[in-house]
Amino acid sequence: MSPFLWGVATSAHQIEGYNSNSDWWHWEQAGNIEGGAHSGRATNHWFLFEKDLKLAKDLGLNSYRFSIEWAKIESEPGVWNEEALAWYDRLLDLCAELGLTPMLTLHHFTNPKWFIDLGGFTNPESPKLFARFTEKVIAMVRDRVDLWCTFNEPMVYTAGAYLGKFMPPAVFSPKDASLVMANMLRAHVLAYDLIHRASKFSKVGIAQNLLDFMPDRKWHPLESILTRVIRRFYNRSWLDAITGRRQCFGILGLIPSPLEVKEARGRLTADFIGINYYTKAFVRWKPKDAHEGTSSDFPIGISFARRKEKVSDLGWAIHPQGFRKILRFAARYELPIYVTENGIADRDDRLRASYLESHLKELKLAQEEDGIDIRGYYHWTLTDNFEWIKGFSPRFGLYSVNYDTDERTLRPSAQVFKEWVSK
Ligand code: BGC
Repeated sequence: MSPFLWGVATSAHQIEGYNSNSDWWHWEQAGNIEGGAHSGRATNHWFLFEKDLKLAKDLGLNSYRFSIEWAKIESEPGVWNEEALAWYDRLLDLCAELGLTPMLTLHHFTNPKWFIDLGGFTNPESPKLFARFTEKVIAMVRDRVDLWCTFNEPMVYTAGAYLGKFMPPAVFSPKDASLVMANMLRAHVLAYDLIHRASKFSKVGIAQNLLDFMPDRKWHPLESILTRVIRRFYNRSWLDAITGRRQCFGILGLIPSPLEVKEARGRLTADFIGINYYTKAFVRWKPKDAHEGTSSDFPIGISFARRKEKVSDLGWAIHPQGFRKILRFAARYELPIYVTENGIADRDDRLRASYLESHLKELKLAQEEDGIDIRGYYHWTLTDNFEWIKGFSPRFGLYSVNYDTDERTLRPSAQVFKEWVSK
């Protein structure tokens, strides 16, 4: 039995910097980020990765989750950037030197700009283009990676880019959203097969964002129904699809169901389930203000806390009980589970220690009392970083970053994590 994996999770665009051929970079330049921020050099991880990985090692970790930046590797269609490939090659060698088992994510929200100009995942050719990139990554990796996530939070990506307009191309198009989910599933299946063909030791999954949904008003019949519908769509549709069950990527009257992806029906294309868990979500019919939730162009509001509840700097409730519920839900798929992300935006480090403590206790209970097969926990994240549309202000790092000097400083709460890791 392999040891439990303790790690931190990161994503390329949020830390590496210099991602000038990506869709996000262009979207940032157009002024779409809060406070006019640009990812720019981000945390300068591109030049400081050796230092960063050592910081991870200093926490006592034995694993590291990161993503590969497609826009850097294939900055123009079919043109491969050897320098970028060599950088990831070095990163993997360093993981081996430091005893950090790598978990590699192929797609974490960002795309090459050229890919989006071709329609991104609305393009029928997109699964093949993604597969071509995957093949290149497999060749670079050789036999150094056993744990793969094809997509990070494909549901959040689709919702952000094609419904909620908080990610590029930021359009509201339920029809495109539906197409994108189907093509991402096709891309996932192709990547799953390619990775398995290359190595019989590989384990492939996705990192799925799961929320503990509840109606905003318990007595409101429509909100109860909507909660069930949204929970099924958001939490279940991807997990059902990659475990060969009926695909439910549509919502009657809101999002058209795409044609069934036959390649995925009736077969398992996941060896584990990756869970990104942060908080709960209240579902509100016709919200009146931002507190009751706002969401895209639908008359449905999603909010992440009640008024006066203890919240993170992003206004997300701290809800450890939901973590165990979500683990139990995921366990129904009868696959091993990795917690691929869990963390809190807490600049002043007031809540992180108790957040870690309470969530890790729930994880332990899920293992010991519910008998759930959890194989690893990745904290989000190692250092502060570029938090998408929110820019640099939310601070999720176990190490804080001074963006003027690039200096990293351990936050006191990291001690709690270290203690759990060394138990
Ligand atoms: C994403 C990360 C993000 C984190 C905190 C996750 O949904 O995968 O990229 O930084 O949440 O918002």
